[in-house]
Amino acid sequence: MSCLGSACPPSDMDARQPKAMEDSSTKQGDAKEDVTEDAELAKAIMSRQFHPSAIGPETWEGYIFSDQEIRIKESTDLYGAVLWPSAMVLCHFLETNQDKYNLAHKNVIELGAGTGLVTIVSSLLGAKVTSTDLPDVLGNLQYNVTRNTKGRCKYIPLVMELIWGQNVAERFPRATHRFDYILAADVVYAHPYLNELMETFDYLCQDGTQILWAMRFRLDPENSFVDRFQQRFHLEELYNLSSLSIKLYRAWRKDSKDQTEAA
Ligand SMILES: C[S@@+](CC[C@H](N)C(=O)[O-])C[C@H]1O[C@@H](n2cnc3c(N)ncnc32)[C@H](O)[C@@H]1O
Repeated sequence: MSCLGSACPPSDMDARQPKAMEDSSTKQGDAKEDVTEDAELAKAIMSRQFHPSAIGPETWEGYIFSDQEIRIKESTDLYGAVLWPSAMVLCHFLETNQDKYNLAHKNVIELGAGTGLVTIVSSLLGAKVTSTDLPDVLGNLQYNVTRNTKGRCKYIPLVMELIWGQNVAERFPRATHRFDYILAADVVYAHPYLNELMETFDYLCQDGTQILWAMRFRLDPENSFVDRFQQRFHLEELYNLSSLSIKLYRAWRKDSKDQTEAA
């Protein structure tokens, strides 16, 4: 995999393998229980991935979600066309928490969709999904989305360009675009568009919108994004997978007129 300048996060592809098992042997008491739970959850999430048993004309990685086999084509020359573990974490949460977060018939937008796994799983769960990313990534994203949702979903997902902070209001006028959920996996890292990303969350998140955001923690500077994020949004931690350095958050506007705060 090669990276396109600063838009590329530091390589953490080894995070596909949970490392909590080795950590857990050094912990005591309750802490040990927490780590074991974390390790078991991380293992369950990562076990959804499988590799093709035979080499065919095209390379792909397989995932099982919503009882469906999902085939994802990655690209070796575009980092946005690599699937990151945060996407699997978010998909696992969505599939296993449908009682509380029922996506059926909901308006959903994904930011930085990459290879499209979150878009695909949300669509399989019945959502009306708008899948967004940078222009260069859209070809592979559309390919994966079409291949895995055609004939399987009630609503055909829409793949659209959305560059954080650029013409967002023109592309997604609030009068006609109101989202129940904003989904995002691994969109915060050391890239120069963190302010634009914040503004994009802020613009798209209206009263009643919930953000489900899987964050891979790497270095301190981008982690301050979480502190700044909390100035505008309520933040609830849904998962803390220390073995993967990933947290899953639910967020909603602090100034929301909708006081329900419920899923
Ligand atoms: C680390 S990848 C995560 C991809 C996918 N969500 C996943 O978890 O597999 C970050 C994604 O953010 C997108 N991205 C980076 N900078 C962006 C920007 N300024 N505007 C829109 N998308 C951007 C990249 O193209 C890429 O798909």
